Amino acid sequence: MYLIMKKRLIIFGSTGSIGTQTLDVVRNFLNDFEIVGLAAGRNTKLLEKQIKEFGAGEYFSLDDSFRTRSSLLDLVQNLEFDLLVGGASGIDSLESFLYCFEKKIPVALANKEVVVSFGEKIKEICGGAPAVLDNPLVLPVDSEHSGLFQCLRGEDIFSVKRVIITASGGALRDLSEKEKEAVTPDQVLSHPTWKMGKKVTVDSATLMNKAFEVIEAHFLFGIPYEKIEVRLHRESRVHAIVEFNDGHSKLVVSEPDMRLPIQYALFFPKRIKMDASPFDYDQDLSFQKLEKGSYPCFDFALEIARKYPKKLGNLVQKDEEVVNEFLDGKIRFTEILNNLKKCL
Ligand SMILES: NC(=O)c1ccc[n+]([C@@H]2O[C@H](COP(=O)([O-])OP(=O)(O)OC[C@H]3O[C@@H](n4cnc5c(N)ncnc54)[C@H](OP(=O)(O)O)[C@@H]3O)[C@@H](O)[C@H]2O)c1
Repeated sequence: MYLIMKKRLIIFGSTGSIGTQTLDVVRNFLNDFEIVGLAAGRNTKLLEKQIKEFGAGEYFSLDDSFRTRSSLLDLVQNLEFDLLVGGASGIDSLESFLYCFEKKIPVALANKEVVVSFGEKIKEICGGAPAVLDNPLVLPVDSEHSGLFQCLRGEDIFSVKRVIITASGGALRDLSEKEKEAVTPDQVLSHPTWKMGKKVTVDSATLMNKAFEVIEAHFLFGIPYEKIEVRLHRESRVHAIVEFNDGHSKLVVSEPDMRLPIQYALFFPKRIKMDASPFDYDQDLSFQKLEKGSYPCFDFALEIARKYPKKLGNLVQKDEEVVNEFLDGKIRFTEILNNLKKCL
């Protein structure tokens, strides 16, 4: 008789889009994973349900009447676990990620805010490429970075000519600037291909989300900004392309379903059969160059990254404030850029 060791997981942001999809994957593989800790913000009703379903012994929420641990860091410091899923929004996860890196515990990383705000620190600790590829402490969950990770593994990072990540263009991609002036939060929240949390969905419409992804790719894999390009790709089925110096390119394609990169990160380095729609190779794929000026928030964020990298934390914070103002009906969609500029 032999015992199969389950991978022990802590999930941050378990009540959000990434967190609930992570639990969907875990539900299919209850013999492989054990949930030892969960953390969420204010949705304690759902958190309580998850704790009961998965038997999580320790948990944290922003509601101090509903937690066994006083902070995210307190949760990770007091549990034995094999993988942390970083699916909470905001920057509160930073210390926990640093703790994991120090203890050599991998993080399945969805959270963008921490990487963009503290990119140099994360790069310094995780080693950037090739360390991030050969002996990964960061397992990217975002479909684009998971795609880059899969393309780059086993390759010489110095043979990369350029990398391309794709952008759907968000909910307003077919509207004129004039039409964008009157859009409501509900319109912006109906993303054409992905189902995500509200903040990241608004960021997809301004393309701030894509700017953050470019910055993340720069920090996680050590790729210079001038080698990272974005293509508008309406179908969201090609996630990342790496072109090498010898003229070959590798692509990662799949139907737009976040459970795929989540499952890849949870089982890494194994690939396990998944009950997902097969990729339809008979459908057309379109790519369009991103013209400068067509998404001004994207241009602005990358200008900050190149010229004032120390201001990236301010940009992330300001973006969160401005997106909330838009969702609360306090500013119009077309006022987002001017408000973002106040981060400087
Ligand atoms: N959704 C996607 O497809 C996707 C793809 C790539 C990357 N990401 C990134 O993944 C992160 C989460 O995105 P999401 O779409 O899942 O967002 P979401 O649906 O809004 O969920 C955010 C989660 O974080 C929790 N949370 C917020 N503040 C917290 C805190 N201080 N401590 C603990 N938990 C906290 C929320 O809890 P409550 O709901 O209980 O308040 C919720 O569980 C973001 O950084 C996003 O950019 C998301």
